[in-house]
This record gives sequence, C-alpha cells and structure tokens, in this order.
Amino acid sequence: MRRPFIAGNWKMNGSKAEAAELIRGIVAGAASMQKVEIAVCPPFPYLYVAEQMLAGTAIAWGSQDVSREEAGAFTGQVSAAMLKDFGCRYAIVGHSERRQFNGETDAIIARKYARAVAGGVTPILCVGETLDERESGKTEEVVARHIDAVLDLGGAEAYAVGVVAYEPVWAIGTGVTATPEQAQEVHAFLRERIAAKNKAVAEGLRILYGGSMKPGNAVELIGQADIDGGLIGGAALKASDFLAICQAGEDAA
Ligand code: PGA
Repeated sequence: MRRPFIAGNWKMNGSKAEAAELIRGIVAGAASMQKVEIAVCPPFPYLYVAEQMLAGTAIAWGSQDVSREEAGAFTGQVSAAMLKDFGCRYAIVGHSERRQFNGETDAIIARKYARAVAGGVTPILCVGETLDERESGKTEEVVARHIDAVLDLGGAEAYAVGVVAYEPVWAIGTGVTATPEQAQEVHAFLRERIAAKNKAVAEGLRILYGGSMKPGNAVELIGQADIDGGLIGGAALKASDFLAICQAGEDAA
C-alpha cells in the first residue's frame, strides 16, 4: 500500500511572516492526521522558517528546485547538500514553470533528479503535457519523454527513491482540473512505463496529481487507483484548503 502524500508548492509567494503563519495553521490542523504524509515547499529563503517550525513535527519540507551541480562557482544556485543542511526531505524538479521560464530541458532535469538523490533529498519529478500537446494526441509521447529522461540516466531504480507528479500544464493555476478519469489514465500509463523496466519499483512509486487540485475535487482524484496524492499550488497557500486536501489523503489511506 502506497502512503498518500500531499505536498504544497508555494511557488514565489509569501513573506517571512506569511510563511510562518501558514506553517502554524498547517501544524495545528494536521495534528490529528497520522496516515497521510504532508510536506510544504516554500521559496528557498523560507526553508529556514520551515526548519525552525517543523522540526519535531510529522510535517516535512522541501524546495522547489535544486542545482544540477554539486558545489562551486554556480552563482545563484542551491545545492542538494545545502537543502539537506536545512533539513529538506524533498526537492521538486522539472516543474513546468521551470521548463517554460528557465529553459530546463529533460537532460537538465534528469541531472537535477540524480543530484538530489545523491545528496539524500527525495526528488519530486513533475511531468505533464501542454494543451496543444493534449489536443494533438501527444500526451503519452510527452510524459513518456519526461519519465524516460530519468530512466535513461539512472535506470528504473532511480524511481525507487523519488516521487512523480503528473501535472497537465493546462490544469496548473487555471481552475481547470483533469477529470479523475483523464488523470488516472495518464497515471496508469506512467506506472506501466516504469513497470516494464521494474515492476516492484513501479508498484511502490507514488504518483501525485497536480493542477488545480482543491478541497472540492481532491477526494475523487485521490480515490483513483494510481493517484497517490497531490502536488498543490494555489490551494496550498490557504491553510484551511490545504488541510482539507490533506484530510482527503488521510481518509484514502
Ligand atoms: P495549482 O498548481 O494547484 O495552482 O494548479 C499546481 C502546481 O503547479 O504544482
């Protein structure tokens, strides 16, 4: 049985005070939840706030990116070792906003994934098609390419130490969610693709859904056989909404 996992991707939002307030609300509201795993991914500067407030609680924290390099002259980058130093359990890699606005390619993302693993931080690999790609029937081709980049570099075993998030780009921040059936279809495809290389790894891999997941649709999405939780953007910025989604994960466990 895969443990349900709900992670909040705060993106570039908030302030030090707002981060603390949001974390305070989540800690209080999640106190009764034991089965679901919960993580928050604030902007880099607020990882310190997360570490201070979440150490000793059941809630994990992580970053939204990680450098593909180990250390040295890479201005502006943050290494996996630094994330580990701040207690991060997770690092999101390959989010579509980084693919789109920071020119990240599959090759770069696969290296970030490997670097996170080597540094003892669990990568959350985001995959997903754009609206154009879906409408031209290329969804499977695109998500297969995203998944294969990590398979090619690290083998199926790389997925024994990571998490995947299927995030259709057309559903991110748009209020349009993939239907549970649409999402399930892609999740099953992704699991199959990894199972073809290593069945046990595929069975154990948590595949989250992301893209306008809200309290109102979380139960149905998480209820799908291959959907093991959610990567939450907008709704992760409001403690009550985020907690309602965590509760859906708790109830699904
Ligand atoms: P959203 O974002 O929930 O606001 O659609 C999800 C994400 O980008 O991870």
